[in-house]
Amino acid sequence: MRWLSTAALLALIGSAFAADNTASSTSFIPPAPTQLGIVCARFSEDLRIWLPFEKNTYVYDKGTFVDANDTVKHEDFRSYVKLNNTGREEKTYLYHILTHWNDLDDITLFTQASPDLAAPAANTTTQMVEIALHTKEDEVNNINPDLFHALAEWKTINWSSPFEAGWITASQLSSLTRVPYTMGEYFQYVLGQPHPTAILATHGGIAAVTRDTIKKNPKEVYERAFQRFEESPFVNTEVGFYQERLLAPMFSKRYWLGPVGQ
Ligand SMILES: *[C@@H]1O[C@H](CO)[C@@H](O)[C@H](O)[C@H]1NC(C)=O
Ligand SMILES: *[C@@H]1O[C@H](CO)[C@@H](O)[C@H](O)[C@H]1NC(C)=O
Ligand SMILES: *[C@@H]1O[C@H](CO)[C@@H](O)[C@H](O)[C@H]1NC(C)=O
Ligand SMILES: *[C@@H]1O[C@H](CO)[C@@H](O)[C@H](O)[C@H]1NC(C)=O
Repeated sequence: MRWLSTAALLALIGSAFAADNTASSTSFIPPAPTQLGIVCARFSEDLRIWLPFEKNTYVYDKGTFVDANDTVKHEDFRSYVKLNNTGREEKTYLYHILTHWNDLDDITLFTQASPDLAAPAANTTTQMVEIALHTKEDEVNNINPDLFHALAEWKTINWSSPFEAGWITASQLSSLTRVPYTMGEYFQYVLGQPHPTAILATHGGIAAVTRDTIKKNPKEVYERAFQRFEESPFVNTEVGFYQERLLAPMFSKRYWLGPVGQ
């Protein structure tokens, strides 16, 4: 298991991923935008690695980057939308599903702007795209299978516990805003049924899914989740951490498990 803090992720500008941009653009023809949409959740990361896929990429910017100083032109992307910095990338993904409900692409790759957690399964955005294009029906393809973790935590979570260290950084913990319901209650509210014994949770907010997989749920499922975020408009709201865990099981019961270990 490889865990990176947000600070470490932000510091990774200039990492292996950043080198991708020039090499890939000549050798790989980007898929048609309707075939693959890339939902890129940005704070202040360098976006040049996404330029080979600019016509696929919807950027959602929750940072304070001054446009004039950016390394990319925002109008080069498929869309460039600034959002309030609340609800982590999870709220961004719900926002995209809800605002693009009638024009979702065949496959959507939800990703952080700095997707280093995808390595070593994918070390470049091109490799991410290649893997994403193989996403099957009813699959949540998180590019790097090591990002899946079986979890059975439905009651009040002790975020200070060392067990949670991979899910929350010290700085996120210091600004965590709790919500008045448990993970189990959130599951029940969003999906309208009791939680299974355990789930296969994916860490780090990277996942590719097909339109049909997204649309297996009625729109109301995503609206209910989004509503919980609207009720808790904070950077590090606890519901963001719940939703990170719910990402795969929300889309498919394949990620609902019996007792962990079985
Ligand atoms: C752009 O970046 C430079 C160098 O960091 C800084 O001095 C300048 O104030 C920035 N410009 C704006 C408009 O933020
Ligand atoms: C963004 O935050 C401001 C200040 O809290 C608020 O007035 C505005 O409605 C928010 N915008 C959205 C789209 O939520
Ligand atoms: C990514 O880089 C690591 C380390 O160099 C390497 O082991 C791995 O095979 C690479 N992955 C791909 C898909 O090329
Ligand atoms: C939460 O975990 C911390 C660190 O292990 C521990 O000190 C604290 O007592 C725990 N809190 C509760 C309410 O269990």
